[in-house]
Amino acid sequence: MQKNTLFLPEIGFGVYQIVNQEECIRSVKAALDSGYRMIDTAAAYGNEVAVGKAIRQSGIDRNEINVTSKIWVSDYGYEKTQKAIDKSLRKLKMETIDLLLLHQPIGDYLGSWRALEEAVVGGKVKGIGVSNFTISQLQEVIDRGNILPAVNQVECHPYHAQKELKAFIDQQGIRLEAWYPIGHGNKKLLNEPLFLELGKKYGKSVVQVILRWHYQSKNIAIPKSTNPEHIKANLAIFDFELTNDEMQKIGTLDKNQPFFKTNPVMNFFMKRMKIPE
Ligand SMILES: NC(=O)c1ccc[n+]([C@@H]2O[C@H](COP(=O)([O-])OP(=O)(O)OC[C@H]3O[C@@H](n4cnc5c(N)ncnc54)[C@H](OP(=O)(O)O)[C@@H]3O)[C@@H](O)[C@H]2O)c1
Repeated sequence: MQKNTLFLPEIGFGVYQIVNQEECIRSVKAALDSGYRMIDTAAAYGNEVAVGKAIRQSGIDRNEINVTSKIWVSDYGYEKTQKAIDKSLRKLKMETIDLLLLHQPIGDYLGSWRALEEAVVGGKVKGIGVSNFTISQLQEVIDRGNILPAVNQVECHPYHAQKELKAFIDQQGIRLEAWYPIGHGNKKLLNEPLFLELGKKYGKSVVQVILRWHYQSKNIAIPKSTNPEHIKANLAIFDFELTNDEMQKIGTLDKNQPFFKTNPVMNFFMKRMKIPE
């Protein structure tokens, strides 16, 4: 099985729900200005065009930036995914996508994985991975595919640390990429007394303590923000270190409960959500 050799920054910038194109351009440019070098978009977010524009307008060498996108479920199956890759490239106005993921493990994801592998060989994509895959679904991709997924992008934060999945993917050499890294701004998580205490000790915000926990847990985190101060602050986590004891205490907060729950009705609608050309 071939491994991805892609370099992945430890913190990326997520653009989920930044639907206003101007706001997306502004936020991505602010992120690039602050030093982020990985932008996480998706066909389903409706902002690939804005992400492409922001990167071009930033003046930063395209080769320095990892652009991650995702194939949506309605474009699954070998041939449809081949077309969807071209559609994303067209919208981004780019020749290659650095990391392309299968957004959800629904439908013919194995056919789509084959199209992704061919896109790597053809040079349209540098690295490939998956999102929201369980251990058994990952095992299926590993058994049937030729390229090891670079990442599995899943909901992960201190209330849902994904210990079992992480043990499996660590063993395989797959990175965990954390979506909802700060719980989508969940109030309870952001007011957790332990984080307030640690924030005080290190002169950092709760969000910075959580992002540092991700970093020390070897999770790649992709926080989203449209607030320039938050964007900058979320990257300022490399000048302090949580002790082993503090990491262990944070570990006890794990409820093994995601905030986001899918169900058959949601899956039904996911399959029908078409991505415009
Ligand atoms: N693969 C998947 O299925 C999947 C699913 C969901 C998300 N994702 C990816 O993961 C990324 C992150 O997830 P997310 O955007 O849903 O949640 P998130 O990054 O955990 O949280 C974003 C929320 O936190 C707030 N925030 C950010 N920095 C802050 C700070 N320093 N202080 C206080 N509040 C702060 C933001 O508000 P402000 O804008 O006001 O700062 C926003 O409301 C997405 O953008 C997307 O790229 C992937």
